[in-house]
Amino acid sequence: MIPVLLDCDTGIDDALALVYLAALHKLGTIKLVGVSTTAGNVDVAQTALNTQWVLEQCDLKEIPVVAGQAVPLEVPLVTTPETHGQHGLGYITGYITPELHTQIPAASWQELWHEAINTYPDLRLIVTGPATNLATFGPVSRTTLMGGAYLYPGNTTPTAEWNSWVDPHAAKQAFAQATDPIKVCSLGVTEQFTINPTSLNAVIAALGRTPIAQYLPEILRFYFEFHEAQGEGYLAQIHDLLTCMIALEQIPFTARELTIDVEAESELLRGTTIADIRGHWGRPANANLVQTADIAAAHAELLRTLHAATNL
Ligand code: BDR
Ligand code: CA
Repeated sequence: MIPVLLDCDTGIDDALALVYLAALHKLGTIKLVGVSTTAGNVDVAQTALNTQWVLEQCDLKEIPVVAGQAVPLEVPLVTTPETHGQHGLGYITGYITPELHTQIPAASWQELWHEAINTYPDLRLIVTGPATNLATFGPVSRTTLMGGAYLYPGNTTPTAEWNSWVDPHAAKQAFAQATDPIKVCSLGVTEQFTINPTSLNAVIAALGRTPIAQYLPEILRFYFEFHEAQGEGYLAQIHDLLTCMIALEQIPFTARELTIDVEAESELLRGTTIADIRGHWGRPANANLVQTADIAAAHAELLRTLHAATNL
């Protein structure tokens, strides 16, 4: 059983990552020790609320969910309702009840992280939002990070990916402080993992009577429309779910050790991530940059896992 701590900014693709992790948890492949949230797609209270709600709809009410840092290290918070919907879960809004808010524990997210690291020496940390919590906490071994665009067009500016752009200082610090290489899943890989209405139907079927299944069409419809408006087609890139599969080595992938740095000060290049492929800097490797992932295997892994957990 692999112990896992997830740090996310739920978010539609974060939500699908949660659905997958919940299934792995039920199957005993992982132990989802807890989830902390960052501000990014929506504000931090909303990401915590969304996370808790998604886990409840996966019949996993007992997983601790805590809100992390409310704002990026140095720049003002910018959120993206145009990508994920006003509250972060597409067209779904009815779940936002006062009761849900009061259920979110007031415990400090840093206590959750300390306890998880101390209890589980082989803990995996998976970060699918801006790196604000990671940079604030300090280095964590066996971290996987979704973020960046390496020799690949950004999705937020010509050169920057969203998570790295929201908190560029945190991304920079996370790599600067790393004591072992951070596994990095960047846009060039994660954009390949897409869901369309047909594959969504297969996901919904695999979830059976799991409550989240009934909400997925309206959550994903927003994401499909967003990607269509971006010229990508009527589909959605599910970055954070693919990141979890790679973090947990559930699908074949290739990666390369190298040094990464992030531009944090320039306005033009804010959040631009740079991999020193030729070793110009002569600095020790701080990243294991994922180069390729088996996307067909990822689709099969998702359906197999959801189906198995549903039929336990
Ligand atoms: C990343 O940005 C967010 O909008 C997604 O949840 C994902 O983590 C992709 O750039
Ligand atoms: Ca995310």
